[in-house]
Amino acid sequence: MKYYSIAIDGPAASGKSTAGKGVSKRLNFVYLDTGSMYRAFALHMMNLNYPCDDSALATIALKSFKLDMKEDESIFLNGTNITKRIRELDVSKNVSEACKHKDVREEMVKIQQEFARSNNVVMDGRDIATVVLPNADLKIYQVATVDARAQRRYHEMLEKGDKVEYEDIVKDIERRDYIDSTRENSPLTKASDAIVLDTSNLTIEEEIDKIIELFVKKTGYKLENK
Ligand code: CDP
Repeated sequence: MKYYSIAIDGPAASGKSTAGKGVSKRLNFVYLDTGSMYRAFALHMMNLNYPCDDSALATIALKSFKLDMKEDESIFLNGTNITKRIRELDVSKNVSEACKHKDVREEMVKIQQEFARSNNVVMDGRDIATVVLPNADLKIYQVATVDARAQRRYHEMLEKGDKVEYEDIVKDIERRDYIDSTRENSPLTKASDAIVLDTSNLTIEEEIDKIIELFVKKTGYKLENK
């Protein structure tokens, strides 16, 4: 049986997860937010008091890393619900360091590929089109200006009741973009066959419509009900 896959990559806070969730809901596909797996691993390193940039300790930490991603999108790390915790700024600040190690990436990619073998999926991250699903049916490379991304993330965090400064969000985004795109192992880069989608001036509904339109055009997929 043929399983479909849509890969959405792009820099920090470009709206990939909101778009990914919306597209998967409309198509009735399963959605996998790979960033949350790396965020969970960063939190695991932090809980262990391991410096996130220590590659040897990251390999050791993997041995005690048990992740449970539920259907309702809640995430458990070694039995503790960390769904909200991993979105906080201190985890954001550590994640790009924690996820750059080869062993960590190999382990996560294995889980992600396994997932796509038995589901129709929408997956978002940094290396989905280039490494995880090089044969994805549709590859989107989503971009937006730093200002548009920081504004969205700032309002999202304020709505959740987090006390954050706009300038800190800008700095976090710029720093992660830099580390993510310059790291040695599977850096953030546009796959040669990915379609660039600039979402700076798109509403979330327009963005979802656009991705679905591209998917249908590319695959001939029949939508059940619009
Ligand atoms: O939502 P946001 O764009 O802020 O980040 P995310 O998608 O939750 O990803 C958090 C971090 O995980 C990124 O800054 C990357 O360092 C890392 N990541 C990665 O290396 N590879 C992926 N496939 C997904 C995320």
